[in-house]
Amino acid sequence: MKKIIVILGGGRPNGNTMQLVKAFMKGAAEAGHQIELVSLNKLSVNGCTGCNACRYGKPCIQKDDFHSLIPMIKTADLIVFASPLYFWTISSKIKALIERFYCIAEKDENPPFGRYEKYPIRDCALLMTSADNFFWTFEQAVSYYNFTLIHYIGFRGKGMLLAGGCGDTNGTPQISKTGHLEAAYTFGKTIYKNG
Ligand SMILES: Cc1cc2nc3c(=O)[nH]c(=O)nc-3n(C[C@H](O)[C@H](O)[C@H](O)COP(=O)(O)O)c2cc1C
Repeated sequence: MKKIIVILGGGRPNGNTMQLVKAFMKGAAEAGHQIELVSLNKLSVNGCTGCNACRYGKPCIQKDDFHSLIPMIKTADLIVFASPLYFWTISSKIKALIERFYCIAEKDENPPFGRYEKYPIRDCALLMTSADNFFWTFEQAVSYYNFTLIHYIGFRGKGMLLAGGCGDTNGTPQISKTGHLEAAYTFGKTIYKNG
């Protein structure tokens, strides 16, 4: 049994992304995992201001909901980032949350090449929806995810589901007409199948 948090960064209340998340969560719950949804639509998490107080032993000076998420981030086995594609990348809500990881980093006396600090290392996965479905549709989002979360912070990637072709936001969500919900269910159910 793994402890999983899904961080939803935007999207409509029962939109494509929320439906994708629910399908993933259903599969993961059926596989016996403990899974919790954190919706950034309901919380206030600002981006980092770069004040660097956290580099001098102080907690982050910002008084927002990020503080309540720190224990969850530090104890989860898997963090799933879920976002609609906004202007060819992840939503600003997810980006703001990732910026705040700066304040949970610790000094690394002997950092590996290309890294400055030590982060709590977790497994992570990415769930995204979009209107378009070209081969390059998710290129910038995937590049950011791989570069920042996997290569820099050092999270262990457990895969991604990029659900293109879900229709635009001018009308009802179209994801149920695609095969993405079944794929998300299977992704959730099998994500720890091989350990
Ligand atoms: C502000 C905004 C920007 C968007 N940018 C893109 C984009 O760059 N590429 C794309 O294919 N779809 C784009 N879309 C469409 C959404 O990504 C797509 O409809 C998504 O599935 C909506 O998720 P939701 O139903 O969870 O709200 C955009 C939608 C909005 C509202």
